[in-house]
Amino acid sequence: MSNQTKDRLISTTKFAYGAAVGLFGMLVLKYPDCAIFHDVPENIPRIKGFPLIGSIIQEVANYEKYYGSQHEQFTKLNTLTMVTSAVGLPLTITTIDPKNIEHFLRVNFSNYVKSDHFRTSLKGLFGHSIVLSEGHRWAYHRKAAVRIFSTKRLEDYFAHVIVTELNVMVKKVLDNYALDGAIIDLQDLFLKYTMDSFVMIAFGKNLNTLTSKEVVPVSESFDKCVQHVFNMSTNPFTPIIDKFNNVFRGPQTKSINQHYDTLNDFAYTIIAERKDDLKNGHSFNDLLSVAMEQGNESGEEFSDEDLRDLIVSSIVAARDANAAALSWGLLCIIQHPEVQVKLLQEIENYLPENKNDQQQQPLLFYEILRLYPPATVNFRDALNDDVWPDGTKIRKGNTVSINLYAQARSPKVWGDDCNEFKPERWLQPDGRLRHESQAKWPIFNVSPRACIGQNLATLESITAIVTLVQRYKFSLVPNQNFEYSVSLVMAMKHGLKVHVQNREN
Ligand code: HEM
Repeated sequence: MSNQTKDRLISTTKFAYGAAVGLFGMLVLKYPDCAIFHDVPENIPRIKGFPLIGSIIQEVANYEKYYGSQHEQFTKLNTLTMVTSAVGLPLTITTIDPKNIEHFLRVNFSNYVKSDHFRTSLKGLFGHSIVLSEGHRWAYHRKAAVRIFSTKRLEDYFAHVIVTELNVMVKKVLDNYALDGAIIDLQDLFLKYTMDSFVMIAFGKNLNTLTSKEVVPVSESFDKCVQHVFNMSTNPFTPIIDKFNNVFRGPQTKSINQHYDTLNDFAYTIIAERKDDLKNGHSFNDLLSVAMEQGNESGEEFSDEDLRDLIVSSIVAARDANAAALSWGLLCIIQHPEVQVKLLQEIENYLPENKNDQQQQPLLFYEILRLYPPATVNFRDALNDDVWPDGTKIRKGNTVSINLYAQARSPKVWGDDCNEFKPERWLQPDGRLRHESQAKWPIFNVSPRACIGQNLATLESITAIVTLVQRYKFSLVPNQNFEYSVSLVMAMKHGLKVHVQNREN
């Protein structure tokens, strides 16, 4: 190479280097504390991050404490609405202000949809069901689901199954632990109880996970698939991890695809059997049969795929959330003996003709869910520009979210005693039950997309809590750490280990 060419190459390299440094400097000036290419609205409070990457380091470091770390950020910024800019994640505006929540989940509902990423990640489990649908398809599913869920025959069957399975949990499991004094993990027990009850309600099949000594394959596959769709929605490396796990798994370990197959085979086999049984004149009261008989909104039969999606997504929507509500609920009750005393008095004074006098039970349940909301966060994408009641400007494509854990712990929303477990906050001065707006207590989301199973969840949880408190004294195994885990629902990371004693002893 001649000296002239060499000089030209060096000066070109220097120029390219200088241009790159200049460009980098310009980008750093333009995005000094937020993610590159994020058009961060200046009027919304935020925790500032690093040039070009924004707050991704804080986000990753706090991932396992996501709910609480957002609560700390709201407190630090002294705000009810904030924005997060982190490279690799969408620009997200999070609010705990009931006015804003009312606006984007109800008033301007059609402008906010579940993101494509979320829908793709969860599709393996929820299919094309109501949970992931939007627009006309959602409205169509919703009408059918509301009609099916409010069938009197199905409501009676719900109550029957809940009481039957509760009886199994009490007589076949807890009574034995009360006799031998061994430690039991209540969260694990409640997951089995809700699994058995909701599979029975949905498919009319008894999985017997409560009494089985072995792991029940379908139940295990449900768990694996729930965890997998959550990983898909939060960790971009999940497909690579799946491939790796598939290659290096032991001969007895199923791949994630095999777990999905187990779940789908289970569902499609029951659907096929049920079709035959119905043809042969048998009658059933479960969700599957009622859905088959009622058909869709146009009066046509549901396809097998529609039935699978309806049933499987109802089980997933119901099972983990209810088990979480029961686990946190029992923890609150064990930690507050005065609440137990009131509940026991109420049970003792209960007269069937005075059903409306039963105040403690709904108060308790509302307060448990306020402090420990099972569906803790909720995300939507804005289809068009919008302005929220507090003046926050939303741009087309922004992600918006709510954090119910932070909302419950905000003195601006729930008063100075917000962190206390106080069921009586749900009483009005005249002693009647206080009904808060859905936007201030969006545990079951906000209409028009409110949870279809709210009454069922309330019935199941209250029945279980009353039965357990009436029958047993629970004491916590010492030195437990009651951290939450961040997943599709907020469960207890290390379970809830207790000793059980019969009350009459
Ligand atoms: C404590 C228990 C429960 C909690 C906290 C809960 C919470 C929620 C929330 C927050 C949503 C809205 C999700 C969203 O659109 O992003 C929802 C939707 C839904 N829930 Fe529940 N749920 C519970 C139990 C149940 C039960 C027992 C069932 C039925 C068996 C059920 C069935 C559904 C269905 C079908 C939807 C979809 C509604 C729609 O998209 O229009 N849930 N639930």
